[in-house]
Amino acid sequence: MTDLSPQAYAFLADVVYRRSRIRLGPDRQAFVAGRLANRLRDLGCASFDDYCQLLDASCGDDEAEQLIDLISTNHTHFFREPAHFEILARDVVPKVAPRATAAGRGLRVWSAAAASGEEAYSIAIVLAEQPRSLLPPGWVVEASDISRRMLDRCRLGIYEAAKVNLPDPALLGRHFLRGFGEREGMYRVKPELRRHLSVTPINLFQERYPLPRGQDVIFCRNVMIYFDTESRQGLIERLFDQLAPGVFLFVGHSESLLGLHHGFRQTGPSVYERPLK
Ligand SMILES: C[S@@+](CC[C@H](N)C(=O)[O-])C[C@H]1O[C@@H](n2cnc3c(N)ncnc32)[C@H](O)[C@@H]1O
Repeated sequence: MTDLSPQAYAFLADVVYRRSRIRLGPDRQAFVAGRLANRLRDLGCASFDDYCQLLDASCGDDEAEQLIDLISTNHTHFFREPAHFEILARDVVPKVAPRATAAGRGLRVWSAAAASGEEAYSIAIVLAEQPRSLLPPGWVVEASDISRRMLDRCRLGIYEAAKVNLPDPALLGRHFLRGFGEREGMYRVKPELRRHLSVTPINLFQERYPLPRGQDVIFCRNVMIYFDTESRQGLIERLFDQLAPGVFLFVGHSESLLGLHHGFRQTGPSVYERPLK
């Protein structure tokens, strides 16, 4: 494989940072070279310098998107950090659902770095399991990510059977269909659950979020770890400003808001609320 020079690496890291705020440290050079090797081959680029030139050219926008797709970490799984889903069901939904109903709309939960959708469907399963008296059927889970490739998988809702680990085995039959023939060994989320998902590409740092302002809950988990402090601070201010009072924010367990300035009140482990007043 062709070498990735320090200059080419610095250029790529800068493109990635400007677009996504993902900070690639100096120790990530081999990782980036490995992730991009096939892409260079597919594009017929003889070297990383050629690839950088292509990114710099007028068609670079699309390629920058591919680049971020290739270097971003999309690892996720169903009911990851399970305590959050218990808190959602036990403490948060009973608080926010009556408010949404009183406002004459369905409950809205935003999975803001949804990757291939396991988090968004885990939320949807929790909501589908709520009594209708508490949660009327018009609820929506907004699933967004910077990666369109991941969002295509999210829309499809097909997962390897071995990876569909749910807290209660009965949920499998209620919310998934087993694949047959060429889909043997796979499960697909049932259409009645998929119908509650709205899938939209959103870069957390784009100017405006194309979402209704009244989100009741945001899951923004395991993405801030890839950002530097300045970007995390900016993001937390945007989430606070652009979303309505009363909103709950879940961040990853390793991503507390400690050290950031914000107006949220902590209500649980990595769970925050924008106070109503
Ligand atoms: C490790 S996954 C987290 C998935 C899920 N939230 C979870 O906790 O399991 C991180 C996701 O963040 C996305 N991401 C990275 N930078 C982003 C940005 N600037 N805007 C939106 N999504 C971003 C990546 O594409 C990736 O799918």
